[in-house]
Amino acid sequence: MAEPKKLFIKTYGCQMNVYDSERMAEAMGGAGYVETQTPDDADMILLNTCHIREKAAEKVYSELGRFRELKDAKPDLKIGVAGCVAQAEGEEIMRRQPLVDLVVGPQSYHRLPQMEAKTRDGAKALDTDFPEDDKFDTLRKRAKAKRGPTAFLTVQEGCDKFCAFCVVPYTRGAEVSRPADRILEEARELVDRGVREITLLGQNVNAYHGAGPAGDMTLAQLIWELDKIDGLARIRFTTSHPNDMADDLIEAHGTCDKLMPYLHLPVQSGSDHILKRMNRSHTAESYLRLIERIRAARPDILMSGDFIVGFPEETEEDFQATMDLIEEVNYGYAYSFKYSTRPGTPAAERSQVDEDVKSERLQRLQALITQQQRAAQEAMVGRTVNVLFEKPGRQDGQMVGKSEYLHAVHVTDSTIQSGDIVPVKIVESGANSLSGEILRQAAE
Ligand code: SAH
Ligand code: SF4
Ligand code: F3S
Repeated sequence: MAEPKKLFIKTYGCQMNVYDSERMAEAMGGAGYVETQTPDDADMILLNTCHIREKAAEKVYSELGRFRELKDAKPDLKIGVAGCVAQAEGEEIMRRQPLVDLVVGPQSYHRLPQMEAKTRDGAKALDTDFPEDDKFDTLRKRAKAKRGPTAFLTVQEGCDKFCAFCVVPYTRGAEVSRPADRILEEARELVDRGVREITLLGQNVNAYHGAGPAGDMTLAQLIWELDKIDGLARIRFTTSHPNDMADDLIEAHGTCDKLMPYLHLPVQSGSDHILKRMNRSHTAESYLRLIERIRAARPDILMSGDFIVGFPEETEEDFQATMDLIEEVNYGYAYSFKYSTRPGTPAAERSQVDEDVKSERLQRLQALITQQQRAAQEAMVGRTVNVLFEKPGRQDGQMVGKSEYLHAVHVTDSTIQSGDIVPVKIVESGANSLSGEILRQAAE
């Protein structure tokens, strides 16, 4: 039998890209490829790219340049670009980097095997369509192999919100929800393969409205269906928009035991003027009231958010309003970025904030966030949390997993296996993780 060909995929950007990379690997598995962890021995290299900020997009071109030697040594090597840069800059990629054989957008990667076949004759292949056929359906799962205890599952894609800074509505297209039965079937298959925690993904996941047996379902209704799956222990979802935080979803945070007490709810800014200019259609006040309601349903929930500093026209006063909002919310995690101009988005045309000012504000904001993050971690010391163990740690006999609150937790215990969920008493808070001791179940 012929040796299988080797596929190396490098993934950038959000979790949806991680999910898509897994699907691409499965699709190419059907075409005789197995995954490899290094580009050096690959027969095909795929970069699954992100277009969200300028730096992310530029990285792709510098990475591609590095494959020249590999391609010189192995002329049959196929180099492909997938993901959001592929969608946004398809033909330009081919022009700028002749090493590239194929370009495939996030909605058409189920056609990857046919595209690869085409490139075998030395032709180039480009597909950035938004096809009628559903890539999820076409990619009937071939892989049945055992997998780790946590998995992503895309339930919704695209976005209709058109925030003035953001490329997602252009790269991922209009908001679409997958039908509930397909999602539930995929979830059951994941659980059969050893998965215990599923994170539902979507650019606007809480706007989910996929077809169910009796009309469209909400995300909360989908979560309750997942809750019935034996063996599935934990459910998470990301990323949510404040305007789509429906009452039933807030309520589920208080009543569904499998739904973890962690919520990523980006606000971007604490200034109403800037929020309006961002086209966010919520105010700082409405966001704060929303968090009050969520905390009323689930008092221990850990909040996380995204922030953009230096959006066009942002004054020191606007920035201060963001700092005030952060003080008020008290985040367990947060991701923050300097505003990056994205061609084709409305904010790109406006008067820009000085780069130095952006950097200085980002530093101040990150200092505050780090302080809150540390405090949230330190507050865990002395508490008992349930940890889903995922893999061995760096030190001998160590295992690492995540608490309900998504904190990384280390223990040293040789009896723990990947997939175990065990109560752990937290004894120490380090820079980025907690460590603890297993609590043995007391005999009744
Ligand atoms: N759908 C999610 C997030 C999508 S992108 C949401 O609506 O919140 C992830 C994060 O990248 C955003 O929350 C935002 O903080 C950041 N981001 C998006 N466009 C950006 C830009 N042009 N410059 C800097 N940060 C940006
Ligand atoms: Fe981008 Fe806004 Fe849509 Fe989020 S809601 S993906 S930030 S346009
Ligand atoms: Fe990036 Fe596309 Fe995700 S732009 S953040 S990979 S949706």
